[in-house]
Amino acid sequence: MPLQDVTDRKIWLAPLAGYTDNAFRRICKECGVDVLVSEMVSADGLMHEQSNTIDYAKFSDEQQPFFIQIFGNNPLIMAQGAESLIKLNPYGIDINMGCPVKKVIKRGAGSALMQTPSIAFDIVREVKKALHGTDIILSAKFRSGWDLQSINYLDFGKGLEDAGAELICLHPRTRSQMFSGEAKWEHIKSLKESVTVPVIGNGDINSIITGMEMFEKTGCDSIMIGRGSLGKPWLFEEIRSAIDGTFSVPLDNNWKYKVIEKHLKYVLEENDNNHEQAVKEFRAHVSTYTKGIPGGSKTRDLINRTTDVDVIMFEIRKLFRL
Ligand SMILES: Cc1cc2nc3c(=O)[nH]c(=O)nc-3n(C[C@H](O)[C@H](O)[C@H](O)COP(=O)(O)O)c2cc1C
Repeated sequence: MPLQDVTDRKIWLAPLAGYTDNAFRRICKECGVDVLVSEMVSADGLMHEQSNTIDYAKFSDEQQPFFIQIFGNNPLIMAQGAESLIKLNPYGIDINMGCPVKKVIKRGAGSALMQTPSIAFDIVREVKKALHGTDIILSAKFRSGWDLQSINYLDFGKGLEDAGAELICLHPRTRSQMFSGEAKWEHIKSLKESVTVPVIGNGDINSIITGMEMFEKTGCDSIMIGRGSLGKPWLFEEIRSAIDGTFSVPLDNNWKYKVIEKHLKYVLEENDNNHEQAVKEFRAHVSTYTKGIPGGSKTRDLINRTTDVDVIMFEIRKLFRL
C-alpha cells in the first residue's frame, strides 16, 4: 500500500479506547479524516480467538486506509496476532508502545515497552516477518519515555526504524505524565530530524491553529488527533481546508446537529437497532458534544435518565437552539 497515502500531510484519528469505535470512525471519515486506527486490540485475545477481541479489529471498506493497533509483550504472540489480521486486509498494523494504563503496563505492554527496548524491537522484527509477502504497513506509536528521568524517544525511534517499522508516531509525554501537562512538540521535531521514516505528530491538537502549528513547528509528515476530535469531529474538515488553502464556511449549529444525528444513527446501526445498548454507548459522546455549551449539564442529566433516542435528539436540538 503506498506509504504517502497515509504520510503526505494527512490527518489521522488517534486510537481512543472507548470512543473510536466503528460509529465514531464512520462519522470522522465523513468529516474528512484521512486515516483511521482501531482501538487497541489484545494480541493474546487474538491468539485465543476471542470473538470480542476480533470485533475490535473489524472495519468496513469505506474506512480505509485503516490501521489495526495491537498490544502485547511477547514478540511471537504479537506476530501471530498480526498474522491473524492479514485476512481483514488492513492498510497497516500499528504496535501500541504508548498506553500508560495499569492493566496494560502490568503485562509489560504499551509504554512499559519503553523500559524494555530490546523486547520492543523484537516485536517489530517478528511482526515484520509475519507480514512478509503482504503490502501491509508496519507502524509503532510511542511516548517520550517512561518518566522525566528516562527520556529515550530518540534512541527508541531509531531502534524501531532499524527493526523495520515503516512509520512511527510520537505522543511526546512520558508514561508518568499520563495525559497531564503539555505535550513536548520539540521532541517530535528532534525525532523527525533523527530518523528517515515518516513521523506522525500527536498531542494536544484541538483547533485549526494547533493543527497547522504541529506541521510548522515539528516538520512532521502527518498529524494525529485524539481528544480534540471528541465532540467536534468536524475539526478534521476544518483543518483539511486550512491545509489545502480552501475557504471553509464556518460550520453552524444546524450542520453540527446533523452530524450528531447521523452519529446516533450509526451507533444504532452498529447495535442492530438495540436502542438501550446504543444509548448507553452514545452517552459518552453526548457528554463531549454538549461540553462547554451553556445548559449542557442539564441536558446531560436528562439524557442520562432516558433511553429514548427521540428525547435525546430533542434535548440536543433545544440546547443548540434549533
Ligand atoms: C480515552 C483515551 C483512550 C486512549 N486509547 C488509546 C489506545 O487504545 N491506543 C493508543 O495508542 N493510544 C490511546 N490513547 C492515546 C491517544 O491515542 C493519544 O496519543 C493521546 O490522547 C494524545 O493525543 P491527543 O492530545 O490528540 O488526545 C488514548 C487516550 C485517551 C484519552
